[in-house]
Amino acid sequence: MDFPPFEHLLYYERVHGARLNISYSNIREFHLDGFGRSLPKDLDLNWTFRNGTPEIRRLIARRHRASSQEVLVTTGATEGNFLVNTSLVHPRDRVLVDVPIYSPLRDVPRGVGANVVEVPRDCQDGWRLDLDRWRKSAGRKARLLVFANLNNPTSTALSRSDIRELADIVEECDGHVLVDETFRELAFDDTPPSVAEFGPRMIALSTVTKVCGLGTLRVGWIVGAPDLLDRFAGMKDYTTGGGSALSQTIATWALGRWDFFLRRAKRILDVNRKLAAEALREMPALQGDVPSCGTVLFPHSTVDVARLASRLLKRYGTVIAEGRFFGVPDHFRLGLGGETQDLKRGLANVRRLLRSAS
Ligand SMILES: Cc1ncc(COP(=O)(O)O)c(C=O)c1O
Repeated sequence: MDFPPFEHLLYYERVHGARLNISYSNIREFHLDGFGRSLPKDLDLNWTFRNGTPEIRRLIARRHRASSQEVLVTTGATEGNFLVNTSLVHPRDRVLVDVPIYSPLRDVPRGVGANVVEVPRDCQDGWRLDLDRWRKSAGRKARLLVFANLNNPTSTALSRSDIRELADIVEECDGHVLVDETFRELAFDDTPPSVAEFGPRMIALSTVTKVCGLGTLRVGWIVGAPDLLDRFAGMKDYTTGGGSALSQTIATWALGRWDFFLRRAKRILDVNRKLAAEALREMPALQGDVPSCGTVLFPHSTVDVARLASRLLKRYGTVIAEGRFFGVPDHFRLGLGGETQDLKRGLANVRRLLRSAS
């Protein structure tokens, strides 16, 4: 196994002390006291269920219109992605990956030695999914087709008919579809269905990290057919075994109040989306609309993105996420889930720099 470095994460480690990071994809952090509850005094901190507690699995299943038997709780969606790939993908297997994409979805199959084929989308074409291209690229032997829905970094959605077509493609090539659904419900009224509804070849990942701003709980999940989950659980026995009882307790509270978290996210995103749309109109060097859903946008920049990012950091302590992390270097990602004042100041800094660069 030879895993490429997780450049985006390493970059965030390096710039951690920066004043303004306007590139994060999560909804702003939530604090323990926001739940208004105390941890149970008799919480067993010695043992927990291998696949996740019955209560948390039941609540997760509801979000995917699945049954509890189809849910495996993992240490974040990060571990879910790792388990799926290490269980299903062998060296030299053909894995197709949607591009642009959150890099672990592309690089974990690379790490296990797969022949990873990037299937690019074109921003000139509104980041449209080219299903003919997917069908041709899959041929008769693709092992895994990989997406994020909503996509990170473009926030584009896979529709019900896209998902049906993908299910059909993997039926023909005897493979599976893996969809990271971390941002799916952040399309609110337009939320696309979970792939878990589309048969045993479809695998969904998700997490409490982004919707709730609860990233350090490290609670995510895989939803898929029970025979696949057995294989993933067998691999998980060697990575974390059972998850954290403490984290699952708090994540269960969050899942029990999911509509509250969606409303909170929508409030934050509505304000910031408007602000970003206004700011972008003032920056002709940036092209691309603010998407109507999701937490991130991915404008094209006519100014070199690496130079822009480095100057923003040096002069204004402002962090953007360079498009190279997602496989498209002439774009960058901005996040809409943070503090409005931070986004406002950060965008003003981007504007100032773009003006001086043109
Ligand atoms: C698409 C996607 N999946 C998963 C994650 C990480 O999820 P977790 O914190 O549950 O490991 C991220 C974080 O940026 C992400 O963008």
